[in-house]
Amino acid sequence: MQAVILVGGEGTRLRPLTSTVPKPVVPLVDRPFISFMIDWLARHGVDDVIMSCGFLATSVRNVLGDGSASGVRLRFVEEPEPRGTAGALKFAEPMLDERFLMLNGDVLSDIDLSRQIEQHLETEAAATLALVPVPDPTAYGLVRLNEDRSVRDFVEKPSPDAIDTNLISAGAYVLQRDVLELVPPDVNVSIEREVWPRLIGAGLFGFPSDGYWLDIGSPERYLQGTFDIIEGNVRTPVRERLGEDWLAVDPSAEVRGRAVPPAVIERGVMVAAGAHVGSLVVLGPDVSIGTGTTVERSVILNGSTVAERCTLRDCIVAAGCSIGAGSSISGGAVLGEGVTVGAENVIGRGARIFPGVTLPDGAIKF
Ligand code: GDD
Ligand code: MG
Repeated sequence: MQAVILVGGEGTRLRPLTSTVPKPVVPLVDRPFISFMIDWLARHGVDDVIMSCGFLATSVRNVLGDGSASGVRLRFVEEPEPRGTAGALKFAEPMLDERFLMLNGDVLSDIDLSRQIEQHLETEAAATLALVPVPDPTAYGLVRLNEDRSVRDFVEKPSPDAIDTNLISAGAYVLQRDVLELVPPDVNVSIEREVWPRLIGAGLFGFPSDGYWLDIGSPERYLQGTFDIIEGNVRTPVRERLGEDWLAVDPSAEVRGRAVPPAVIERGVMVAAGAHVGSLVVLGPDVSIGTGTTVERSVILNGSTVAERCTLRDCIVAAGCSIGAGSSISGGAVLGEGVTVGAENVIGRGARIFPGVTLPDGAIKF
């Protein structure tokens, strides 16, 4: 089975994590984000993946290579300029099989794609959209279904007064290549706004799923996705690494303080005596945590160092940061790559600090 993953967006809502790394390869728990998608697809029989890229395509390719590590064939196509969700697919048309999966490249999910493909075949659909319930559909594509699961309405980004169902499109579709006859070449076309509405009554079906699903597009959701992976709420290969004690500690890590599960502690990590790490923590390779420091519900990426007596809660620290003694980082704050925070700073309330910034000792307190 073939799959096309759309990864052409800029990922602006995930800044500053995406200021230096394209969204598909932002590290999540222990691997580039998109690897979770590829693994999910491979479990449902996908062996041929086409990545439809725009922004920073070369760095995506450098991180993922040809896919041999994940057991799938991986190819990349780059549009000359952003063509929109249907235009990008049209651009890849010469590579496409008669039937294939198409996915938005920012979802963490374990929806049963095999059953979705079965339903697609049974109904002889032109396109079958996976559907999931969400509390607030306004940021998504709302879908109203008929009894036989054919789509009655598709409303992209519905206004609050248009909401009479909680079912939205999960960004995972089974498609027949014929659908591309509706898409003109060489122009920007939205599959949500220009193709789905025209397929209503002409083979557009929905597949309601009770699987796990999350659009990973913001720092809050990035943390939520991290927690769900290490709590085992979504099916991923990380579950096996965590084992029965829900603690994955690389043998080369030196944990002298306390580690509370679930947590992932990678190679070369140093947790000093009297430090407290977890629960719901990921420490990337070579991270170091000082004496008397507490880290909870947070992610700290490669090579960052946290000095003594710090408190880190509900925050994301990108690679290569340095945090001085007695500082507190919390409330959804995100530090971009290579940020230096001097001693005795207090950073909270969703602050986003851009890559390479240096804050002197005691610079921020609020
Ligand atoms: N190659 C390419 N070219 N990819 C693109 C382009 C483009 O011009 N524009 C967007 N993409 C990719 C994005 O990188 C992302 O992976 C995917 O297409 C969807 O774009 P988003 O910008 O994330 O859309 P959204 O989240 O607002 O809405 C979409 O996803 C929802 C589910 O998360 C829609 O498909 C909604 O209907 C859906 O409910
Ligand atoms: Mg999205």
